[in-house]
Amino acid sequence: MSSPGTVPQTTPGTTPGTTAEAKDLIRLRRIAELRSQVATWRRAGESIAIVPTMGALHDGHLELVRRARVDCERVITTIFVNPMQFNRPDDLSSYPRDEAGDTAKLAENRVDALFAPAAEEIYPKGYQTRVSVPLLSDCLCGAARPGHMEGVATVVAKLLLQSLPDAAYFGEKDYQQFLVVQRMARDLDIPVRMEAVPTVREADGLALSSRNLLLTPAQRDQATAMYRVLTELAARLKDGRTPAPPALAWGRAALGEAGFDPVDYLELRDADTLQPLERAERPARLFAAAWLGQVRLIDNLAVVDG
Ligand code: PAJ
Repeated sequence: MSSPGTVPQTTPGTTPGTTAEAKDLIRLRRIAELRSQVATWRRAGESIAIVPTMGALHDGHLELVRRARVDCERVITTIFVNPMQFNRPDDLSSYPRDEAGDTAKLAENRVDALFAPAAEEIYPKGYQTRVSVPLLSDCLCGAARPGHMEGVATVVAKLLLQSLPDAAYFGEKDYQQFLVVQRMARDLDIPVRMEAVPTVREADGLALSSRNLLLTPAQRDQATAMYRVLTELAARLKDGRTPAPPALAWGRAALGEAGFDPVDYLELRDADTLQPLERAERPARLFAAAWLGQVRLIDNLAVVDG
């Protein structure tokens, strides 16, 4: 078993690299190390949060960490590029990895522990079990990526059972994913608060995503249309009476004119069940996925809050 390593950690307001109030970020590779660290904190009566990620961290991920810090005394971030949720092998191998950069960001944000296991630690030889949440998984992003949501539900179930935290933090950026893992935790009686954090956006509204770095400067300009169209649609539909289909047809055309091709979906759905809606007459959300060149962008926006 590898032993946990540490890197210097600073508090906000101090310069990274200085030692004022520095703590150590504990690096954990094995499930047994994670369980033993959690047990130590539990014996001291401390509350624990987990923030699951696949690394290549940006300010959207760090916002989850900041929320977790406010709510709980200890924060664990996990970095695991989960093979089970990738349906294309080239997607998995090309996924950005930057553990050194990520570690520095986590230390600056006063994360207590980083759990970064190897694939064999999570899926040892002979591994078989999958967790599926069919109704919430088979639409929107789940329809285009068979097995993706099952892979997400499975790995999040495992991470929750390995760490048994008080709370787990997810981004509204992947709203369908949040509903899937929330349902999974309820259905499996995992005693954890599942928290959704609002999407962090650039000044022009574009949702932060590691994929934004793959856009050319021209595509980066075009990308702003997605949030613009969602905002305009939310304003048109929020009275609850305006029929959605013609408004959505306008929105698809507007995305096309802005350069998105193809538009995978632009839909109005029930914010809890994800069933399609004709009007925003109950808690409702708009969902979009569309391509700029080789890059698929997704976003979503509340029309009528729950
Ligand atoms: P990843 O894409 O690394 O995202 C980790 C978390 O960060 C997710 O909960 C995601 O919704 C959140 N996030 C991403 N961009 C955000 C933004 N702009 N604003 C707010 N939150 C944002 O999602 C995954 O990893 C994986 O599927 C995972 C849940 C870790 C399971 O493998």
